[in-house]
Amino acid sequence: MSIKIKTAEDIAGLRIAGRKASELLDYLTPFVKPGVTTGELDKLAHDYTVNVQKAIPACLGYCPPGMTPYPATTCISVNHVVCHGIPGEKKLKAGDIVNIDVTSIVDGYHGDTSRMFIVGKPTIAGQRLVDIAFGTMWAGIDAVRPGGTFNDIGKACQAYADKHGVSVVRDYGGHGIGKGFHEEPHVHHFPINHPTPVFEPGMVFTIEPMVNAGRYHTSMMKDGWTVVTKDRSLSAQWEHMVLVTETGYDILTVSAGTPEPPEFVTGWKKPSFE
Ligand code: MF3
Ligand code: CO
Ligand code: CO
Repeated sequence: MSIKIKTAEDIAGLRIAGRKASELLDYLTPFVKPGVTTGELDKLAHDYTVNVQKAIPACLGYCPPGMTPYPATTCISVNHVVCHGIPGEKKLKAGDIVNIDVTSIVDGYHGDTSRMFIVGKPTIAGQRLVDIAFGTMWAGIDAVRPGGTFNDIGKACQAYADKHGVSVVRDYGGHGIGKGFHEEPHVHHFPINHPTPVFEPGMVFTIEPMVNAGRYHTSMMKDGWTVVTKDRSLSAQWEHMVLVTETGYDILTVSAGTPEPPEFVTGWKKPSFE
């Protein structure tokens, strides 16, 4: 029971893996259009990861205790799907809101990131939820500083979500990450009532809040992976890997296509990729 403090070598490896995962999302972006199937997007992701990036798709065959092996490279979660949507025959249509979550292993280190995409012309409700989910993730990220605690992430995410009238999913959270895919700690995106660990420089974890337009409750589909909102309301999620530094934090899942943070963020600036 302990959170690993990463070495400089670990951090360098995680930064490369995080960048590759982010570059995979950059690569997929122009293919997210009306008519494409989620299975076709997954095949593109698989082939790019393996053949171009020479990386390992971490989700493919991933099998936590008591689960069946995950059958794809990506998780693609459309509209009321909260997370872990299995790619397949489903065709995307204009107005859909889509999370693509990718995890790649590069030289033994995991890079895990996700973004939202809107297919064709956005709906008002879809655009709004996607934007609020982005703000919720960044509110959580911008609360990270050495000496603070993990509960600061939950408080910041929940406050942002409350302010914008959406709910925060409680059944799934972020996680430590390194040579392991899901390391300690579990990162709650809502405040909890027992003590949480103190942030220390060298900790690396994901922040990946799922927010719902309706209530926070989720249900599991019969396939054993696909998580949906219980009330079938829209759900959205973004994910970054965060490193605690001596003075604040850094983002490890960055590439040219990474969206700029919202204006309220004070702790991070996107580097240039010229
Ligand atoms: N990438 C997801 C996360 O953010 C985990 C997906 S596990 C899978 O933690 F097996 F569903 F792919
Ligand atoms: Co993750
Ligand atoms: Co992920």
